[in-house]
Amino acid sequence: MFSARVPASTLGRRHFLQALSGGMACALPGWALAANGLWMPSEDLPLTPTQTEGPFYPETAIEQQMFNDADLSQKMTGHELAKGQLVVVNGTVTDRRGQPLAGSVVEVWQACASGRYNHSRDGENPLLLDNNFQFWGRAITAADGKYSFKTIIPGKYPGRTGRHIHYRIDSPQHKRLVTQCYFSEYGEDNAKDGIYRQLDAKQRQQVTVELDKPADAAQPWNGAFDIVMAKA
Ligand SMILES: [Fe+2]
Repeated sequence: MFSARVPASTLGRRHFLQALSGGMACALPGWALAANGLWMPSEDLPLTPTQTEGPFYPETAIEQQMFNDADLSQKMTGHELAKGQLVVVNGTVTDRRGQPLAGSVVEVWQACASGRYNHSRDGENPLLLDNNFQFWGRAITAADGKYSFKTIIPGKYPGRTGRHIHYRIDSPQHKRLVTQCYFSEYGEDNAKDGIYRQLDAKQRQQVTVELDKPADAAQPWNGAFDIVMAKA
């Protein structure tokens, strides 16, 4: 029987369904059956590219902040929602063989919808600080390597045209990864962004989240940002 230890998100839905219906006899492009009976990528997955941490990593460690959970769209349940387009970004943290990395600490920080960070170094920025936005969050990946954040689409700000979320990920026995993700919705802005432009075409694809927009405008947009970590 096909092993569920290959995450469907990295396998791709079409091939995953082929595998389920075809069982062991099914040939999977890019995948090979290992001696232990598990399907593994036949080549190492490309590492998620590193990008600059930038100047706005939270001044107090995220786990010490009063509000630090995986829902950045409001400081706590019952509080007013932050301004901006809601979005849920989820994904799977894996090693280069596609194995999920449970217990990974995933930290995110970003600007509010107006384009300002909650950071003293952004004090000269005249854009309005949204006090209902949480600005940073933290999640621990589950046994299947998955994480999820609910947040808002970050605003543009002086010096950065690409709307981006900063990530810092720590997985046991792996190198710390600092990177950023972007949204396909804003392709023209991304193309003008100096940090985004430092990536090659394949890397840009890796860090650009495709968005699914529900018909109900009150529902958040959804997208996946999968992360591949390098061994320490
Ligand atoms: Fe930034």
